[in-house]
Amino acid sequence: MIRVEDLHLHFGGIKAVDGVSIEIARGSITGLIGPNGAGKTTLFNAIAGHYRPSSGKVWLDGEDITGLPPHKLFAKGLLRTFQIAHEFSTLTVRENLMMVPGGQPGESLVDVWIRPSLVASRETEVGRRADEVIDFLQLDHVAGELAGNLSGGQKKLLELGRTMMVDAKIVFLDEVGAGVNRTLLKTIGEAILRLNRERGYTFCVIEHDMDFIASLCDPVIVMAEGKLLFQGTTDEVKQNEQVIEAYLGRGLKQRGQAPAAAGAPA
Ligand SMILES: Nc1ncnc2c1ncn2[C@@H]1O[C@H](COP(=O)(O)OP(=O)(O)O)[C@@H](O)[C@H]1O
Ligand SMILES: [Mg+2]
Repeated sequence: MIRVEDLHLHFGGIKAVDGVSIEIARGSITGLIGPNGAGKTTLFNAIAGHYRPSSGKVWLDGEDITGLPPHKLFAKGLLRTFQIAHEFSTLTVRENLMMVPGGQPGESLVDVWIRPSLVASRETEVGRRADEVIDFLQLDHVAGELAGNLSGGQKKLLELGRTMMVDAKIVFLDEVGAGVNRTLLKTIGEAILRLNRERGYTFCVIEHDMDFIASLCDPVIVMAEGKLLFQGTTDEVKQNEQVIEAYLGRGLKQRGQAPAAAGAPA
């Protein structure tokens, strides 16, 4: 579904993404792991149109989408979740969902922002969809709560919910478990699995929690120092623990750990 070929993204002298080639299969939940600074977020941003790659190509279903802006990709069903923007924190959960444009083919995010009447005219339909999403994610008890008052995990569920307001095909989730308690992390994992199985969503998930990755993802892509280090099933990643450890230092779960980078190419 997604093919990335020899992608480079440099910030001045920093090679944040340094020649990465990966594929994301339709219907998969692909994991992306690696130490802080490995280039995972930058890779996401380069695929999802937030950064223009220095070089390399990105294809979506065989179509060259390299450098397309986020709203064009959004219209094609490629979404990257973002934290609920500050200005949306004083809107309720339901209102936050209703602010997402309806994802009609060819309709851009920008159109809807510039012409809010479009949203108003679809309010009933959008409201119905918002209620369905609230139900699916079991957010009923906080539907009328201001987004700013939600817990970290509930906010993540809301971010996921926003992708369900459009006809998302592939969703990129960055550190979905950050600041989320175990119970809600399980709920988020279940929502991802159900969206994958019942709605045909393809996911690419960055997460440090290896139990979470192991329970959801196949395959798992490992990045270090801007490069693809390894790709395989969770079991294969685990079996390659010594190799991984050599690059990641002790334990994937530890955050803020600089890569040991033993034997890493310069
Ligand atoms: N906007 C930016 N400007 C300059 N350097 C950046 C920027 N974003 C990321 N970097 C650098 O690129 C490298 C990869 O960062 P990032 O993609 O955030 O890694 P990860 O998500 O794997 O932790 C790091 O060295 C980081 O400091
Ligand atoms: Mg990151």
